[in-house]
Amino acid sequence: MITQSALQSFNRMETPFFYYDMDILRATVEKFVSTLDKYGVTAHYAVKANSNDRILKTISGAGIKAECATGNEITLALANGFAADGIFFDGVAKTDKEIITALKAGVELFNCESIQELEVIDAIAGGMGVKAAIAVRVNPDVDAKTHKYITTGTEEDKFGISSWAFDELFATLARCRNLQFTGIHMHAGSQITDMNVYAELCKKASEFEKLFTQRGFDVKLLNLGGGLGVDYEKPLDNWMPDIEGLCRTISQNISLKPGQTIHIEPGRAMVANCAHIISRVVYVKEGLKKKFAILDCGMHTLIRPALYQASHKVENLSCREPLEKYDVVGCVCESSDTFAKGLLGGAPHRGDFFAIHSAGAYGQVMNMRYLQRDLAPAVYSDDIK
Ligand code: LLP
Repeated sequence: MITQSALQSFNRMETPFFYYDMDILRATVEKFVSTLDKYGVTAHYAVKANSNDRILKTISGAGIKAECATGNEITLALANGFAADGIFFDGVAKTDKEIITALKAGVELFNCESIQELEVIDAIAGGMGVKAAIAVRVNPDVDAKTHKYITTGTEEDKFGISSWAFDELFATLARCRNLQFTGIHMHAGSQITDMNVYAELCKKASEFEKLFTQRGFDVKLLNLGGGLGVDYEKPLDNWMPDIEGLCRTISQNISLKPGQTIHIEPGRAMVANCAHIISRVVYVKEGLKKKFAILDCGMHTLIRPALYQASHKVENLSCREPLEKYDVVGCVCESSDTFAKGLLGGAPHRGDFFAIHSAGAYGQVMNMRYLQRDLAPAVYSDDIK
C-alpha cells in the first residue's frame, strides 16, 4: 500500500526509486512460514529474485532457507543470516571458483545440471578431501505455460539432465566417490499460475524417484524448484501469492516415504508485490492520435516489460481524475521501453508521481546503467513512517 503520508514524503525524494512496503513483505513471509509448516514443505528462497540486505534479513530471520545461483549469492546469503547448511546451490554454469566457494562454505547441497558438472564437482571435492552432497536436476519435460524466456523444463531447454541420459548419469554417480547423492531437483519455469503444472511436476517427481530407487539410489529429498506466480494484474487487491494452493497440490500429488523431505525454491512469489517503482512524469507528449506520459524510469530500471513482454500495473498516484487514455513510456531511446499501452488512468501532468507495481522480484537485481543513468535506490516503508 502506498499511504498518503508515504506519498507526501516522496515529494522530498529524487525519482525513480524502488519503494519497499515492508509490512507486505513481512505478511507474505509469515504466510509462507505458517503454510509451509502446516504441509511439511521446506522453502529455499531464490536469492536471485531480490538480494537487498534488508529483504534477505527479513526472509532469513523468519527461518526460511536459501537457494543461490552463484558464488557471490552464497557469500551474500551468508552475510545476511542464512545458514550455510540450508543453502541449495543451483546454476547451469557453476565455475571451479564457485564450486570451491560453496564447498568451503559448507552448503547443504549442489543441484547439478549435467554429467560433466558432476565430474568436475567430484574432482574438486576429492582434491579438497571432502564429500559434496548433490541432487540431480532432471529435466521433467513439463511445459510451465509461461513466457518462453522463463520456461526451463522442456526437453529443448538447456537445463537439467533428460531421462534419456539416465544410464550414463547412474554410471557417473556410481563412479564419483566424492559425491553424496541426496535426491532429485526440478524447475519447470517462472510465473506459474496454473496449479496443474505443479501437479504434473509432482507426478514426474514420483516417476523419477521410482527410477532412481530401482537403480539403488536413496532418494532422501524431492525439490520442485521455484516458479510460483503472482497476480500482476491486480497486485493491490490480491498481493498474497497462492502458497496454500501450491502446498495443497503437493500434498495431494506426492506421498513421501518415511524420512523423505520435500522442497521448493520460491523467489518471485515472496518479494514481487512488496515493491513499487516510484517515478515522475518528465514530459507529456501530445501526438496526433495518442498521448504519452514519459517517465524518468525506464527499461534500465525495470527490464521485464521490454524483455519478457511482461505487464505491470501502472498508476498515476498524483491525479485520479479526469480519466484519459494514454501510453506510459520510459526514458530510454528504444521503442520497447513501454510500460503501458492505452492505459485508462488519471490524466498525466509533468511532475506527477507514477507507480509501477509488483517490482520487487527481478526488478532492482536486473537494473543496469544503460545511458550512464544512475541506479534507482531502495526506499523502505519502515524508514518513512
Ligand atoms: N530455482 C531455479 C533453479 C531457478 O532457475 C529459479 C528462477 C528459481 C528457483 C526461482 O524462480 P521464481 O520462484 O522466482 O519464479 N528474470 C525473470 C525470471 C527468471 C527466473 C530464473 N530462475 C523474470 O523477471 O520473470
